[in-house]
Amino acid sequence: MCGIVGYVGSRNSSDVLVEGLRRLEYRGYDSCGIASVKAKGGLYLKRVSGRIEALKGLVEADPPKDPGAGIGHTRWATHGVPSEDNAHPHTDCAGELVLVHNGIIENYLELREKLAGSGHAFKSETDTEAAVHLLERNVKELSARSSSGMLEPVFFEAFRRTLAELKGSFAIAAVWDKCPGVVMTARMHSPLVLGLGEGENFVASDVSAFLKFTRRAVFLNDGDIAAVRAGGAEFFDFAGRKARRDSVNIQWDSTMAEKGGYRHFMLKEIHEQAASVENTLRGRLLPLKEDTLAREINLDPAVLRSVKTVQFIACGTAYHAGLVGKYALENFQVPAHADLASEYSDRSKLAGPDTLAVAISQSGETADTIHAVREAKAAGARVLAVTNTVGSTLTREADWVLYTHCGPEIGVASTKAFVGQLAAIYVLAAHFAAARKAVFDSDARAFAAELLKVPRLIEDALAMEKEIEALAKRYADREHFLFIARHINYPIALEGALKIKEISYVHAEGYAAGEMKHGPIAIIDKGMPVLAVATSSRALKLMAGNMQEAGARGAEVVAIVDKESRGQVRASRYIEVPQAPEILSPLVNVIPLQLFSYYSALARGCDIDKPRNLAKSVTVR
Ligand code: F6R
Repeated sequence: MCGIVGYVGSRNSSDVLVEGLRRLEYRGYDSCGIASVKAKGGLYLKRVSGRIEALKGLVEADPPKDPGAGIGHTRWATHGVPSEDNAHPHTDCAGELVLVHNGIIENYLELREKLAGSGHAFKSETDTEAAVHLLERNVKELSARSSSGMLEPVFFEAFRRTLAELKGSFAIAAVWDKCPGVVMTARMHSPLVLGLGEGENFVASDVSAFLKFTRRAVFLNDGDIAAVRAGGAEFFDFAGRKARRDSVNIQWDSTMAEKGGYRHFMLKEIHEQAASVENTLRGRLLPLKEDTLAREINLDPAVLRSVKTVQFIACGTAYHAGLVGKYALENFQVPAHADLASEYSDRSKLAGPDTLAVAISQSGETADTIHAVREAKAAGARVLAVTNTVGSTLTREADWVLYTHCGPEIGVASTKAFVGQLAAIYVLAAHFAAARKAVFDSDARAFAAELLKVPRLIEDALAMEKEIEALAKRYADREHFLFIARHINYPIALEGALKIKEISYVHAEGYAAGEMKHGPIAIIDKGMPVLAVATSSRALKLMAGNMQEAGARGAEVVAIVDKESRGQVRASRYIEVPQAPEILSPLVNVIPLQLFSYYSALARGCDIDKPRNLAKSVTVR
C-alpha cells in the first residue's frame, strides 16, 4: 500500500511531487509528505496527517527556497496510526538523509532494537524508519573510510548495503542533502517505475504520477537499484553490478486519468464501461481463430486443449469476475473453480501441471493474489494473468498476460476494470471452446458474435441512470440491503452488495436466491429492500419463487428484469435492462447495481472515490 514519487530536474520539485502524489492518492490517503534537498545543502520537509490538499496548502504557505531532487509519499497505514510523526518521508538522526517506502519491512523490530541500542533516536512507530537509520549508519561507516571524498559512491554503496539488510517488500526512494542531484531508489516485491524526461527524471509507484510530463517509462524488476539524476538513470542489481533496463512507451495519457467533467471518478468510470469492454475484446474475437491468443500472447491452443482444470484466483471484485468465469467455462465443459486468493493456500495442493491458474487483478499488485500465484506455480500450475496494469508484478510472475486495456481506474470501487475482467474471461472461454471443439465451431463463433454486441447493450443499460438515481434516493435512509440472484448472476448479487457496502457504508448481503430459505430469509422484515437479478434464464421460475418468498415477508423487491422476463416475476419495482443471452447477462446486469451504489453513496454524502478504510491497491497480506 502507499504511493511514492521522486523527481530530479530543473522544475520546482515540490510542485511535481505534490502533483504526483495527488495522482497516487488512490493508493492510500491517510497521511502524506514530501522532502527535497536544497541545492546548497539542508532538507526541506513537509508532512501532514490527512490528504494531499492539506499538504499542498502547507507547501504553498512555506515553499522551498531552492528546491533540488525530492521524494514524496502518500500513506495507507500498516505500522503505526495515521499521524504526522508516522507520515513519510522519514529522516535520520541528523536530518540529512530522508527516505520513503512502500511495502513492509518484516525485520524492522530486530533492526530497530539494534539501531536504537547503538544510539539512533526513533521518532515514529513505522517499520520504515528502521531503513533510514540503517542508511545513516552505513553512510557514516563508509564516509569515515572513504579516502576520495566523493560522496555519491558513498551514498550508493550505503543504500545498497541497507537494502541487503532489509527483509520483506519494499519500493524505496532516498535523498541525501550532501548529494543534491540524485535520488536512489530500489524495488523488492513492491511496484516501482521510472519516468524518463528531457533533462529530468521521475520515480513513482505507478505511471499516472508522471504521465503529465513523460510517457517513457522503465519498470524496475525485483532486486533492481536505480541511481536517478536529471541527465539519466543508471541501473544496478543488489550486488552492485550494472544492469540494463529498456524503456517502454505508455499509451495512456494524463487526461485519461482526469474526471472529464464527471463529479466523481467512479461515475466517469461507470460511463466508460462500454469502451472498456470494446477495448478488451478488440482483435481477439473477429474472426475467432484457434491461434489468435497464440499470436497475441503466445498462449498456444495446445495448452488450452491439455488443461484439465482452471483455477480462478483473485480478491474482492476481481474474485466475483472469477466466479462468473467459473460458470462461463463450465458452460463450455471446462472444469473450473474460483478461489479467494487469501484462502488459496490449501487449494494449491490440488494444482499441478495440467492446471491453468487464472489470476485476475486490476492493479496486478494485490499481495494476496501474487502470493497465491506463487503457490500455484510452486505446485506446477501455469499461470495466466488477467490485469489492467502494464509492468505490474503480476505480469512478471505469470506465464501469459491478457491485458484488459481499460485505462486507468482511479475510483477505489472497481467498475470498468470489473467489466474488462469479465470480457477478458469471456474471450478466454471463447478460445477454450474453439481450441477444444467442446462445442461445435459455430457455437463458439455465435458466442463470440454475441459478445461483440455487449458494448452496445452496456450503453443502453447506462441510459437508465436517472431512474436508478431516483430509486437510490428512495432507499437512501435504509441500513440493510439484500441482493439475490442465481447461477451465473449470483456473483453479480455479491458484487452489488460489495459495491454498496464499500462506498455507502451500509450493511448489504449478496445471496444465492435458492439459499435464502436456508437461513437468511429470517432477516427480512417490512420494507427491507431486496434487489433481485431476474433477467431471462433457465432458473427464472425458481428465481420468481424466491422473490415471492421475500415479498411475502414484507420485503420491497426491486427486480432487475429484461423485456422477456418482466411479465414472469412479481416485484414492488422493476428496472428493465437490455436483453442479453444468459451467459453474458452479468456484463449488463451489473450496470444498474453499480449506479445504484453510486447514487446511494451520493445521497448519503459519502466520499465516493476514496471510501474510508480502503485503498485502491492492497499490497499487504
Ligand atoms: C472493490 C475493489 C476491490 C478489488 C480487490 C482486488 O470495488 O475494487 O475488491 O477488486 O482489492 O484488487 P485488484 O483487482 O487490483 O487485484
